[in-house]
Amino acid sequence: MTKVCVIGQGYVGLTISVFAAEHFSVVGFDLNHSLVKSLNFGQSHIEGIPSSKLDKLIQSGRYLATADPKDIEGSEIVVIAVPTPLDETRKPDLSYIDNACKVIAENVNKPVLIINESTSFPGTIRDYIKPTIEKYSKQKFEHMYAISPERVDPGREDFNQKNTPRLYAGLTPEATKRTQEFYSTFCDNLVEVSSPEVAEAAKLFENTFRQVNIALVNELAQISHALGIDVRETLDAAGTKPYGFMKFQPSAGVGGHCIPVDPSYLADVAEIAGVEATFIKRANEVNLDMPNYIAGRIAKDNGGSVKGKKVLVVGVAYKPNVADTRETPAELLIDELKDLGAVVSWNDPVVGSWHGTESSPLSGADIAVVVTKHDVVASEDILKSAPYVFDSTGKVKGAVQL
Ligand SMILES: NC(=O)c1ccc[n+]([C@@H]2O[C@H](COP(=O)([O-])OP(=O)(O)OC[C@H]3O[C@@H](n4cnc5c(N)ncnc54)[C@H](O)[C@@H]3O)[C@@H](O)[C@H]2O)c1
Repeated sequence: MTKVCVIGQGYVGLTISVFAAEHFSVVGFDLNHSLVKSLNFGQSHIEGIPSSKLDKLIQSGRYLATADPKDIEGSEIVVIAVPTPLDETRKPDLSYIDNACKVIAENVNKPVLIINESTSFPGTIRDYIKPTIEKYSKQKFEHMYAISPERVDPGREDFNQKNTPRLYAGLTPEATKRTQEFYSTFCDNLVEVSSPEVAEAAKLFENTFRQVNIALVNELAQISHALGIDVRETLDAAGTKPYGFMKFQPSAGVGGHCIPVDPSYLADVAEIAGVEATFIKRANEVNLDMPNYIAGRIAKDNGGSVKGKKVLVVGVAYKPNVADTRETPAELLIDELKDLGAVVSWNDPVVGSWHGTESSPLSGADIAVVVTKHDVVASEDILKSAPYVFDSTGKVKGAVQL
């Protein structure tokens, strides 16, 4: 059976591993030893991959998690699914990709197909991954290289690996063909594009489109409040137009690994090419300023100050029904409220513990502010938690709305 190695066993890598393991022998390589241990105990750490499914694949010998680079040997296909964050200066940080290239170069023992699923700027597979693997390789194999950007939306039930159209392109026709053969085993809708750069750019633009539209709607929320108009009713009204309009919802800002990060990859490569990505920069500013705006609204409604008030931030995950807190706007809001002198705690039963603190009870606050509304948290309980409740989600009827 063809052996596939997936580098990185996070949201993307574990999902791909589990789908691929229905058809291939999969080794999931990750540097995180405790993650590897729990995966081999059949414990899934992500929404959408049930532990029972993982356990079954382990029992049947189709899946093995490992932190030992030697287990990569013998693979015919290697998929890269490692983080691509921003550094302190909000520039692309390709250090995880670099490490992945090194471990691949040092451990594959024959020519393989290398597919990148990590999100990065156009040119990453051709001008970064290929030369980096060649730099670290002692044996000069003619590997094949391809890109197939991941579109998984953790926690989503209607679209998954099987029915979400997947873009792909190889550096050579043979790489393209082999990539198509690999993904067609578990994805029904494959879309070939003419170059890896098109696939890489499309992925970045998809998330940039969302980031810019979310910023636009957040700006509309501020305008609407100043004009005394209900922003959500306005959006519902605009949404009745059957063409040329797509509805986005206002919020406390954007979170997660993709939307706050990916557009900056596009902005960076644009700048290198001599084009200023003005929309991306402005959208970042508007979204990052939402916690500041919300804190200001709350202070104004509460006699001009939150100093000394007990403020409970409800929902610190970046979106409903997941435990993921990466880049959550709740963090900026908590900092903002603390700066204004509030005594801040947080409640989120889905997240449980965060930054070394535990979720507080949903009660006893002077002010509650909803950043994320999980299905398991009842609106009535939120409304009872404080005499003043501010809702940035539009889901808690009876609360003060964004
Ligand atoms: N999470 C999403 O919804 C999503 C969606 C589409 C694309 N992506 C992209 O996919 C990539 C991976 O994201 P993720 O959400 O799976 O990240 P993640 O943080 O959930 O997982 C990454 C894993 O890679 C491991 N890792 C880091 N460096 C490694 C190395 N050199 N060798 C082996 N393992 C290594 C980490 O320990 C971690 O377990 C990113 O580029 C991201 O932008 C993510």
